[in-house]
Amino acid sequence: MRRLLITGGAGFIGSNFVHYVLENTDDHVTVLDSLTYAANLASLEGLPAGRFRFVEGDICDATLVDGLFDTHDAVVHYAAESHNDNSLVGPAPFVQTNLVGTFTLLEAARRTGIRYHHISTDEVYGDLEFDDPARFTESTPYNPSSPYSSTKAGSDLLVRAWVRSFGVRATISNCSNNYGPRQHVEKFIPRQITNVIDGVRPRLYGDGLNVRDWIHADDHSSAVLRILDAGRIGETYLIGADGEKTNREVVELILQHAGLAPDAYDLVTDRPGHDKRYAIDWSKLRDELGWEPRYRDFGAGIESTIDWYRENEQWWRPQKAATEQKYAAAGQ
Ligand code: NAD
Ligand code: TYD
Repeated sequence: MRRLLITGGAGFIGSNFVHYVLENTDDHVTVLDSLTYAANLASLEGLPAGRFRFVEGDICDATLVDGLFDTHDAVVHYAAESHNDNSLVGPAPFVQTNLVGTFTLLEAARRTGIRYHHISTDEVYGDLEFDDPARFTESTPYNPSSPYSSTKAGSDLLVRAWVRSFGVRATISNCSNNYGPRQHVEKFIPRQITNVIDGVRPRLYGDGLNVRDWIHADDHSSAVLRILDAGRIGETYLIGADGEKTNREVVELILQHAGLAPDAYDLVTDRPGHDKRYAIDWSKLRDELGWEPRYRDFGAGIESTIDWYRENEQWWRPQKAATEQKYAAAGQ
């Protein structure tokens, strides 16, 4: 039994990991989350009270963080400002949470010596050309494009420095785009699913041909647990599931599921600096730690995600109108 501290556990991927750990281990879990607009406490309903505790607070609060590190065996750090579009409108909270917040946790890890796992993104590597046969590997040079990806890149570099200079017992994982239940409606897939539920045409940025490498959030969680248990200290592991799709292909699947024409979408103003393509080579994780993704069929994963949004409207409805107002202001 381990006492795990999970930052950002009221968000999309963090809450998935909380459920995954409680279902698959004997660990006790504390979530530290400041409940920004992106959090949803409904994602943490029904968890076993004896093994789960929620603490509302900011990862930049060194006193609070110190107290929690003193009473836990390991931390998995998910908390972040996570949406590229928001980072282009207002980058300040990205610098604060992603950089200063990570620094605050690393200082506590240095003082206490507890095991630290850092959650990051493939977006730190920048983007690939559409016709490039290459995929990102652990040794691809960092080349981030947006305030979001550059602050995540900076946080990864802080972790590497704290490992090397101070002996912090850390690992890093960089995962591709996640989908699944409980993702905020600002993100691409839930936005289009809920638009279709509302009878609104999906919105594709630019020509809709940008490529993302999709992985189900459950597969991300199983990989992180594997790295926490067996990863080598100081190492970086890429997490992916061979899920490359153009944004058009994803929207066509959503439209098809609703019985609508495959081209019943609108092309809207492109995102500035929009990364073209991401693709992950996850062979290090497979070869070193024996991990494999379970969700191999993207179409089936999307269908069950659509069903979840249809059945859980009370979870997402409160955020939908304000999110769409924000996009409308940007012509998207
Ligand atoms: P999310 O936006 O859904 O959730 C982020 C959570 O962090 C929220 O609950 C929020 O309240 C909390 N938070 C934000 N600032 C905080 C602060 N200062 N103190 C405490 N809590 C704070 O994000 P997500 O999509 O679940 O992403 C989680 C992590 O995974 C991030 O580190 C992100 O960079 C990484 N990641 C995401 C993806 C993806 O596809 N979404 C892919 C790879 C990596
Ligand atoms: P997003 O979910 O914001 O993830 P990321 O920027 O981290 O990849 O967007 C995924 C892709 O979908 C990206 O190419 C931008 C595009 N996109 C749209 O075409 N329309 C939308 O309404 C949104 C939110 C994103």
